[in-house]
Amino acid sequence: MKRIAVIGSTGSIGRNTLDVIRQFPDKFRVAALCAHSNVELLSAQAREFKPELVCLTGQAKTNFHKPGKKAKFFRGFLGLEEMLEDRRIDMVVMAIGGSSALLPLWKAIELKKEIATANKEALVMAGGLISRLAAEKQVKIIPIDSEQSAIWQCLEKEDPAKLEKIYLTASGGPFRLYSKAQLENITLKDALMHPRWKMGKKITVDSATLMNKGLEVLEAMCLFKVSAGDIKVVIHPESIIHSMVEFVDGVVMAQLSQTDMRIPIRYAMSYPQRLKGKARKLNFFQIKSLNFAKPDFEKFPCLALAFSAARDGGTMPAVMNAANEVSVAAFMEGKLGFISIAEIIGKVMRRHRSLKDPTLNDVLDADSWARIEALSLIGE
Ligand SMILES: NC(=O)c1ccc[n+]([C@@H]2O[C@H](COP(=O)([O-])OP(=O)(O)OC[C@H]3O[C@@H](n4cnc5c(N)ncnc54)[C@H](OP(=O)(O)O)[C@@H]3O)[C@@H](O)[C@H]2O)c1
Repeated sequence: MKRIAVIGSTGSIGRNTLDVIRQFPDKFRVAALCAHSNVELLSAQAREFKPELVCLTGQAKTNFHKPGKKAKFFRGFLGLEEMLEDRRIDMVVMAIGGSSALLPLWKAIELKKEIATANKEALVMAGGLISRLAAEKQVKIIPIDSEQSAIWQCLEKEDPAKLEKIYLTASGGPFRLYSKAQLENITLKDALMHPRWKMGKKITVDSATLMNKGLEVLEAMCLFKVSAGDIKVVIHPESIIHSMVEFVDGVVMAQLSQTDMRIPIRYAMSYPQRLKGKARKLNFFQIKSLNFAKPDFEKFPCLALAFSAARDGGTMPAVMNAANEVSVAAFMEGKLGFISIAEIIGKVMRRHRSLKDPTLNDVLDADSWARIEALSLIGE
């Protein structure tokens, strides 16, 4: 029985993780739940799963109702770090959205917990530092993100030295076929219409700008110790192939499945075993054809910015990520146009002098600096 802490349990990944746990009561048990603001849902989840530990990181207007006298309740990010120390937690599923995941993820690695992460922003901000810490603590970071899970599965039994290229697939988002002029009038409602995946709002907007793919380039660099030059983004509108790897002998391996996040979540939680569970299967006679295209870096400059940050390294990826988080939040609040997201990120990156070999504090400082720059450019 694996005892799981679901950090970000009220979000899209968190709820899917709980659904996997519901399907396998003999394999997994919820030891801890953590949410940021959704007290109602957190309370309902705690009543259903009866964890020993519950945490709320944000401010809440309503009271949290303990599921039983035995549950221990924690508040804030320091409370979350304290909760992670509990020995009854075997695995941490990191499902928090955004940069707030960095410090709890760091703590979980220091504590040598098993880690399955969906959060990509932390790996983007401090990829080198996280891989070094994980190696030092001998902690495996198992990816949940479907593309990274695909690469992980393709590489599992292979010699990493024989890997030549990673093909990171992208659906292309809802605006794949739009002209540059059409992109000028995008509303939040348009941006939230992802053609293939149902996800949280921030990642859905990131998928529309293709920044999500850019973040995944940096995420893959951290997880698989490759450089930006080893990764090619391929537009694959059907989202059936979740990514591919090419070896030195010209063989390409791909992982295919339905677009259901419970598949990579289940694999990350049960790794190295595969569990039979509820999942729609592929029907190749219905699919008939798969399509591939080059991404348009001019129409989707966020992807070019991410490759540039990946090549610069140092504190630049953290700066890019912070400017993106601020710009996407402003877009969601109606304060910034869709195409201005990339403009703000580009301006902040051009103003930044990247620090090579940063410490964790350097990364956090760069993140704060970039947020202030982005906010001032947006006019707040
Ligand atoms: N959704 C997907 O299919 C998918 C696929 C691949 C990767 N990912 C990655 O997984 C992560 C989560 O994505 P999501 O779509 O599940 O996001 P989401 O639906 O927006 O959920 C985010 C979760 O994080 C919590 N949260 C929000 N702001 C927070 C903050 N400032 N501090 C701490 N916790 C906070 C939320 O709590 P409250 O709701 O209680 O406020 C919620 O539980 C992202 O990094 C995303 O890129 C997601």
